[in-house]
Amino acid sequence: MNPNSLVSISDIDKEEILRLLRQARYFENHPNQRILEGKVVATLFFEPSTRTRLSFETAVNRLGGRVIGFSDASTTSSSKGETLKDTIKMVSNYADLIVMRHYLEGAARYATEVTDIPVINAGDGAHQHPSQTMLDLYSIYKTQGRLDDLTITLVGDLKYGRTVHSLLEAMQYFNPTFNFVACKELQMPAEYRQFCTDKGMRYEESTDFSPEVIASSDIIYMTRVQRERFTDIMEYEKVKNLYNLNAAMLEGSKENLRVLHPLPRVNEIDQDVDDSPKAYYFQQAKNGLFARQAIICRALGIDIPEE
Ligand code: CP
Repeated sequence: MNPNSLVSISDIDKEEILRLLRQARYFENHPNQRILEGKVVATLFFEPSTRTRLSFETAVNRLGGRVIGFSDASTTSSSKGETLKDTIKMVSNYADLIVMRHYLEGAARYATEVTDIPVINAGDGAHQHPSQTMLDLYSIYKTQGRLDDLTITLVGDLKYGRTVHSLLEAMQYFNPTFNFVACKELQMPAEYRQFCTDKGMRYEESTDFSPEVIASSDIIYMTRVQRERFTDIMEYEKVKNLYNLNAAMLEGSKENLRVLHPLPRVNEIDQDVDDSPKAYYFQQAKNGLFARQAIICRALGIDIPEE
């Protein structure tokens, strides 16, 4: 495995996370540079994406590199039966870095095992989404002025939600208190609850998105119930609309509360929240550009200043 790959957020330690956050701030102040001139980045998206793919590609373009790849695997030779191994080996002949989203958990780790070039996991099934976590941490830091000692409420699909799994792992360094709000079908998996216990992170579980939970929160992290993860569509129909945040529910919340969502949303956050100063999900997505510029430079071994 190329050591500059980023498959799981646990591949990097606290020091590296903080360095990437300082570099993200540098890129927010200096987004346009030519430091990737001569570099080719391949974006291989076997699953749909708007933000992740476009922000990675924008990040490369703004730094003077070139992008190849696909957003629809049905137009590639994988539809003829080419294996993931062969696809990765072929793309490695052309590119300096692979950014890959795949519907199978473990696909990104597997890709690192069949190529010498770095691989960034842009989401693998219900497993991990580490670049999302870097932009989430950057958003939390920007809005709270710190990462330590925050109460973070994770709401919705905690079972299949790769963004919450990665975020939970990253918060091990920052003494969080979590509220896990989910119906019994979509609760945080046992392995992540055990991870919290092992790392001394406090958590409460609830099926009720109560005023008390909202009042205690510094961050509310809403998530979409992901239809694409269900094998039984009736199961999805049963749980898809259980958690919804509207503007009235934010009355009485802390001044510093910010509402995050990795997006896309379906109906977890009413549009009346968009005008609240506590809504931060669109800025959060914008922060993805800067966080991903830092992640790409790390993957390619390019030294950049920190701010
Ligand atoms: N947050 C996120 O991964 O969004 P996309 O699916 O649009 O990339």
